[in-house]
Amino acid sequence: PPPPSPRIPEPAAGIITAMLRKPARFLLILLLLGGRAGAAADDVPGPDGLVVSASRPASKVGGAVLAAGGNAVDAAVATGFALAVTYPAAGNIGGGGFMVVRQPDGSATSFDFRETAPANARPDMFLDDRGEIDTDRIEAGYLAVGVPGTVRGLALAHARLGRLPWRDLVEPAARLARDGFPISPTLAAALNRELAGPMRPFPGSVAAYGKPDGSPWQAGDRLVLADLAVTLEAIATDGPDAFYTGRNARLVAEAMAANGGLITRADLAAYTARERPPVCGCFLGHEVISMGPPSSGGTALLQMLGMFEALGLERLPADSAEAVHLTTEIRRRAYLDRARYLGDPDFVAVPVDRLLARPYLQRLAAGIDREQAADSRQLAGDLVGHPGSDSGETTHYSIVDGEGMAVATTVTLEGSYGSHVVAPGTGFLLNNEMGDFNRKPGQTTASGEIGTPPNQIAPAKRMLSSMTPTIVTKDDRVVLVTGSPGGRTIIITVFDVVTGVVARGLEGRAAIDAARFHHQWLPDRLIVERGGLPADLRRQLEILGHTVMERGSQGAAHSIWISPQTGTPLGIADHRGPDAAAAAAPPAAVGEPSP
Ligand code: GLY
Repeated sequence: PPPPSPRIPEPAAGIITAMLRKPARFLLILLLLGGRAGAAADDVPGPDGLVVSASRPASKVGGAVLAAGGNAVDAAVATGFALAVTYPAAGNIGGGGFMVVRQPDGSATSFDFRETAPANARPDMFLDDRGEIDTDRIEAGYLAVGVPGTVRGLALAHARLGRLPWRDLVEPAARLARDGFPISPTLAAALNRELAGPMRPFPGSVAAYGKPDGSPWQAGDRLVLADLAVTLEAIATDGPDAFYTGRNARLVAEAMAANGGLITRADLAAYTARERPPVCGCFLGHEVISMGPPSSGGTALLQMLGMFEALGLERLPADSAEAVHLTTEIRRRAYLDRARYLGDPDFVAVPVDRLLARPYLQRLAAGIDREQAADSRQLAGDLVGHPGSDSGETTHYSIVDGEGMAVATTVTLEGSYGSHVVAPGTGFLLNNEMGDFNRKPGQTTASGEIGTPPNQIAPAKRMLSSMTPTIVTKDDRVVLVTGSPGGRTIIITVFDVVTGVVARGLEGRAAIDAARFHHQWLPDRLIVERGGLPADLRRQLEILGHTVMERGSQGAAHSIWISPQTGTPLGIADHRGPDAAAAAAPPAAVGEPSP
């Protein structure tokens, strides 16, 4: 069979860089499924607050906001804007995301700033003349763009829970864009790939991201993003309306109209971010707080944790064939329900309570054959399908402040560099999130797509997501803040980190470094990080009926773990993201993968 994920460029680059850096430790980590690796030198303690993100300068911005008296939501807003400058693959103002917040009094909420379909979108808009899916128009270009939500979402979170002035939170990002910042080897290589390939057809993108003299970027070059600085400055001064109305809205709408895109000024003006109750559940004496629909992440995560507990999997060694088999079967069932039921709750009735009810999860768990892998298509009855690719570039960051507020935020442009389009003059990349909708109504096939109704395209509807920003508490104290990029693998990565800490008793670093394995119902494959599965374990799984494959790396779970011994939060940058770093308040303490 073909490789499961045709484009995972940055995570793959990340794992290679990490392997070159510390080959002996890395190999050991990969071989120790669920092993105890201990803390890494770049883990950062932060008793007064911490930010962990995919980009060192962005983490420093968040750390500085905490040091200046901002709370975790202030830091999340500032880090989010900074990521739009320093991590253009996924950090954004032209995309969307989700933020889960737990306040010091134990109350929790979430902010949904997922993109929406434009008013002129239709369920069949990605079908060609023969009625087949035109993947080119989903992966790049103007038609793929959903109405961006990030600026309204960050503004809503700030208005509800922030403390510092808005301007102070956007201005650091504007300054980074205006003054520039030295780029890492990974960013230099990624920009050169973009400029030579997917960005080439889009003059606004080349103008924004090309090196002024036209030569390739080198590590250490200063990237100045002048148009983005102007856009961010306007947002800093005039608030989110500067993005959704006026000059910016005009520039986006004009470029859309000239290039076959659908988004109009009216679409931008109408965009609304939403505050929603998060989904919450109990897992082995811990509370797990995560994102509800229109993300599938929290619901599927809690389903898997419920089945894990029903089967008593915490009592099995993590690296036994029985544990890996049963965990795979759990994943298979949660992803089938995801395909059947999940979508935008403003458009479809998503039966979250029923899906998370303990008797239902016990029944699902009881149906698992301990001796034999299920057949995903047979399990689905009349729903024969394949949920599409698990690609998708996204980024997660985790924050706690000194008062005990915790924020988990995951943002995305969908593919790496989204649609690859910068509308001329705006300076920011637009998403290609429309591809997260089901693209061919009614067609659910073994080799194709999901065509079920809950996630079909409709005007103003939010496309289903897998983003899973998650906070875990025990006895009213935060234990873990986590999340990940990785399309459909996100939910599994978060599940692996949560079960590592809660069910296996691993320290944060060990849970994050442990090899990950993925199963998403269809395609019916158990996909393991390369080198992460000993040969004899692989053979036993194949005897049980699993098709086992390997991949480069899965996710980048930039997390905060609070040691039960010391009570001190530890910022853990996942080494699968090569430029990731934790920053404590005061920001002098910045950790990064050591060379
Ligand atoms: N675009 C990735 C996700 O929302 O799951």
